[in-house]
Amino acid sequence: MQGKIVLITGATSGIGKETAKGLAMLGATVVITTRDVQRGEQTRQELIEATKNTNIDVLFCNLSSFSSIRDCCREFLKKYPALHVLINNAGIVDYHRRESKDGIENTFAVNYLAPFLMTNRLLDALKKSAPARIINLTSGLHSGTIHFNDLEFKHGYSGMKVYGHSKLASILFTRLLAEKIKGTNITVNCVNPGMSATNLGRDAGWFSAKFFKLLGKEPSIAAQTPIYLASLPEVETITGEYFEKKSVKQTKTETYDMDAAKKLWEISKKYVGL
Ligand SMILES: NC(=O)c1ccc[n+]([C@@H]2O[C@H](COP(=O)([O-])OP(=O)(O)OC[C@H]3O[C@@H](n4cnc5c(N)ncnc54)[C@H](OP(=O)(O)O)[C@@H]3O)[C@@H](O)[C@H]2O)c1
Repeated sequence: MQGKIVLITGATSGIGKETAKGLAMLGATVVITTRDVQRGEQTRQELIEATKNTNIDVLFCNLSSFSSIRDCCREFLKKYPALHVLINNAGIVDYHRRESKDGIENTFAVNYLAPFLMTNRLLDALKKSAPARIINLTSGLHSGTIHFNDLEFKHGYSGMKVYGHSKLASILFTRLLAEKIKGTNITVNCVNPGMSATNLGRDAGWFSAKFFKLLGKEPSIAAQTPIYLASLPEVETITGEYFEKKSVKQTKTETYDMDAAKKLWEISKKYVGL
């Protein structure tokens, strides 16, 4: 990964932090995003100490805010001449219905609309830097169908249902984006890292918080597939797929519904103002 520039969202904790560490160990320039400047700087120092790679940078980005995402992309493009790997890693589960800075249900905003916006803003940079790769973190808990009549779960909100819905949206986004960027030498895949002992359950009630911590695997193990997808030559031409444990896996029928993917794409463009 010497000479490669990688951008990872939400790398102050869990799988993102371990992915950043793994790629920094391989020699990449790693740019992480944070919503807390102090935590970001602390993470940067920890990563430098652990990897002896000093090419680690941190950019502020609150993924609950479209303007913050736009500012972050602008700053990245100003500072860096290329982008070889974009990892949309940050994610949340929230048992309480909250709204983002833009007034949108927050799990949908952070887990799905934020990667949608960030990827689209950085697509030209990825094209210019090709071969390039995009990796979206999804989950084995993706579920249901896209809730077109109530994308923000104004009715019947449940933390896990909304999480599963956002992760289904992320798979559909991955598959359609792969079609849209065919021929650009950019690949886009999604990853289910598997249950891992991270901070993900923090806002999901005490039971879930304990559940993740007690039963999940080490984040460094969960990070292996994102690292693999970001760096290995053998996956350089695979695109539009869902990966688990470094292998392509078939997923539920709903994740191949390209009509739903196209409809969601158009709605998402309006949401983020593209
Ligand atoms: N852990 C699992 O069992 C599991 C299973 C399947 C999929 N995943 C997926 O893996 C990805 C990583 O999750 P994780 O388990 O490593 O969780 P985590 O430890 O909670 O890390 C999530 C990261 O996202 C950041 N983040 C959350 N909301 C943000 C916002 N509004 N703006 C900016 N950054 C924000 C967090 O920042 P702070 O440090 O500031 O909180 C943190 O760095 C997620 O997409 C998750 O859905 C996890």
